[in-house]
Amino acid sequence: YIAELDLSDIGKGTYPFYMLKEIDEQPAVMRKLSQIYADETGKVVMDDAIIQALIKADRIYIIAAGTSYNAGYASKYLLEELVEKPVELGIASEWGYNMPRLSEKPFFIFLSQSGETADSRQVLVKANELGIPSLTVTNVPGSTLSREANFTLLLHAGPEIAVASTKAYTAQIAVLAFLAKATGTAIANKKAANFDVVHELSLVAQSIEATLSEKALIESKVTGLLATTRNAFYIGRGQDYYVAMEASLKLKEISYIQCEGFAAGELKHGTIALIEENTPVLALISNNPKVASHTRGNVSEVVARGANVVTIVEQDAAIEGDDIVINNVHPYLSSISMVIPTQLIAYYASLHRGLDVDKPRNLAKSVTVE
Ligand code: G6P
Repeated sequence: YIAELDLSDIGKGTYPFYMLKEIDEQPAVMRKLSQIYADETGKVVMDDAIIQALIKADRIYIIAAGTSYNAGYASKYLLEELVEKPVELGIASEWGYNMPRLSEKPFFIFLSQSGETADSRQVLVKANELGIPSLTVTNVPGSTLSREANFTLLLHAGPEIAVASTKAYTAQIAVLAFLAKATGTAIANKKAANFDVVHELSLVAQSIEATLSEKALIESKVTGLLATTRNAFYIGRGQDYYVAMEASLKLKEISYIQCEGFAAGELKHGTIALIEENTPVLALISNNPKVASHTRGNVSEVVARGANVVTIVEQDAAIEGDDIVINNVHPYLSSISMVIPTQLIAYYASLHRGLDVDKPRNLAKSVTVE
């Protein structure tokens, strides 16, 4: 049973690929994080020095690469709401050479599954030279980025072997949710007081489990759609746009389908020119009343141009005819549950194309060169 998986296990057991095992481990990771980062009363347990350093900052910079970079975007809204500071994202390979003008009191957060990514380390070395306080959020205790930053928070996701990252992405968002809750509570932010992170993550774990029990349905949606296509698009607005970025990266990495994640409203400013008969468009619609109907409008626009649309929708935003419907979760955490079907879509697309899901061509799990 999913929730009983041993997260320290590095075998793949009866699984055909590590990626599928790691996707399945995510409910267990969510629950484990609540045990580690909260006490029985639900109060967050975290080194107060991290929280104090964050409070002193006037701006948070998240620096990362690949999937970790996308996890940074997925956590931006939650951090900004609860910590009350602007959050800016930096692509590690860019910032190593092109560090932008920083605020007066920056705080750097490095997101890195491996803790060894050379691009991220290069930025950390500069941050240390400049005396900028830093936190590494990583899956690997004692890793380089962990050793060289002022603070570390661990992902506790268990070894991630598949090159395509899955459980590290969702664990990163969850760990940053604990950090946001703890910091927001320390500054008496009202939204933080009302955000029961342990309870909400338990609902996320349940939502993920429900999605994982629909694998056959999800597989059936991609079989025809992605078996031979050369390109595809993910669209979404707000939080769903950030999930679209990660969903498209995942699909590219392991199925070699050229896929772009787009802010749905931006399609009409150029990219819609690429939509033709049968172009696959996967639309992400979480339960955000401010944007859901607008994304529906964009779906209609691409349908009118012949696109083959799959909708991935939170229950309360669902309408008749939606393809993949998932349980609602708290809006701060919707990226975690919304990304799950997209991980499975990438997995099945890769599988149906007869590719090595765990070891895609040209990619390495950890890139230790610049
Ligand atoms: C490599 C991997 C990606 C990963 C990226 C960042 O490119 O193939 O899956 O997202 O590195 O890795 P990190 O360990 O820093 O999160």
